[in-house]
Amino acid sequence: MSTKRPLIGVFDSGVGGLTVLNELLQQVSGADYIYFGDTARLPYGSKSIATIAKYAIGAVKCLEQQGAERIVIACNTACALALDQIMAATNLPVIGVVEPGADAAARVTQSKQVLVIATEGTVSSHAYRRALATRDIDAREKACPLFVPLVEEGWTDHAVTEQVAHIYLDEALRGWSPDVIVLGCTHYPLLKPLLGRVLPKEIALVDSAESTARAVAAEVRSNTGEPRVRFFATDSVEKFRRAGEKFLSRKIDNVQHVDMD
Ligand code: DGL
Repeated sequence: MSTKRPLIGVFDSGVGGLTVLNELLQQVSGADYIYFGDTARLPYGSKSIATIAKYAIGAVKCLEQQGAERIVIACNTACALALDQIMAATNLPVIGVVEPGADAAARVTQSKQVLVIATEGTVSSHAYRRALATRDIDAREKACPLFVPLVEEGWTDHAVTEQVAHIYLDEALRGWSPDVIVLGCTHYPLLKPLLGRVLPKEIALVDSAESTARAVAAEVRSNTGEPRVRFFATDSVEKFRRAGEKFLSRKIDNVQHVDMD
């Protein structure tokens, strides 16, 4: 039997995409990974399409040079705004988080009414709304820009975050009762326990990180052995390691700095 293991490149604006890598390591353990976090240039959530496309294409080229055989765009914002441009810039197979997230929501919803929470950029692209509309689902989108800094601060179970969640979600759910909420941002899976407390019990949470890993598992022929992971960060290696370990349930070493200038 061949011992060759697929090498998967995972791209995100920073450490948030480690929630996707976490799921990949569980669901596609027979592969090796290179993770690229563009920590020097985050957040992407408030940047323009042209800027995000340029940054994301540069990162994908870097992953390609490192030998990646397929690319996972873990960053919801980059995927929502620039997936077509990224795909046009590489010959490697590319998978984003929006389509798998929409598929998972379509499997779970009964009422066909779904709320997507995400960054400003993802919401204004309406990528999730379009993807859900093709599945006959009526979707509304709500930007929750404070969630990213709160999660990065480690306040995933903090009273302030709970209050912020109440404000966003009460607004989004006023006069409307979806039965599914899609977590359309890399950071939001860390808020699952808190959101579970804030939301009515009958609303299910769909995690696009989980469904993306499932979609990759369906495409990749994995092999035996422990996954090897290398990390690239565009800002401080030490900062990446410290922040990253909050997102990835394993130790992070093997981080290399990469200068995109
Ligand atoms: N990775 C981004 C996303 O999933 C969130 C962080 C950022 O704005 O860069 O949309």
